[in-house]
Amino acid sequence: MVDLDLGASRTSVAVLVSGRGSNLGALIKAGEKPGSSFEIGLVIANRPGAGGLDLAEAAGIPNLLIDHKAFDGREAFEQALDQKLNEAGVRLVCLAGFMRVLSTWFVKCWQDRILNIHPSLLPAFKGLDTHARALAAGVRVHGCTVHIVRPELDDGPIIVQGTVPVLQDDTEDALAARVLDVEHKCYPLALELVASGRARMAGGRVRVEGIDDPSGLLIHSGG
Ligand code: GRF
Repeated sequence: MVDLDLGASRTSVAVLVSGRGSNLGALIKAGEKPGSSFEIGLVIANRPGAGGLDLAEAAGIPNLLIDHKAFDGREAFEQALDQKLNEAGVRLVCLAGFMRVLSTWFVKCWQDRILNIHPSLLPAFKGLDTHARALAAGVRVHGCTVHIVRPELDDGPIIVQGTVPVLQDDTEDALAARVLDVEHKCYPLALELVASGRARMAGGRVRVEGIDDPSGLLIHSGG
């Protein structure tokens, strides 16, 4: 991971959303706690009407819509995104239900500074419909992963994972709700570890200082 040179002040973070923004809500709440290493300094949505924009507004956080459909191609959209992030002076970018694939160019611009949350235990079930696929596969454990973004979809060094049991009579909705609950615990923890400088890249993986017991990076929830 690049040296973030975070110093004593709290790291300003941008959150990119496309929809309801419940993970954004969890990050805002965590960032407001005394002693947090980060604060949410900007929220950007790529879809008009994204609930995340209302959440940001209610919390008094600068927010804006950059509608990808208003641009002539991905490059122009991402250039606008990059410009706004730089203007806001944010140091980290969190994808939270952001439904646009980012190009290699953009990921390299923000190398090791983009985090994503994916609703499965990666590397299992990359892509969409993770809960339905987990049910169809008959797995007994499912969950979520917070990772550093790489150009390949749903790939990159893992920071924190959360697990939930898959129950015999689970429905997709019930399983999704159980996973979402653990997502809201995992994302704030992962961001805190990165923003505080405790999580760093080492040999292609994320190494976290001061956590010898791996259970500190794995949250179990539900039952
Ligand atoms: C979450 O399940 C997240 O893992 C996935 O998209 C969903 C976003 O939900 N990437 P929300 O907008 O944070 O409520």
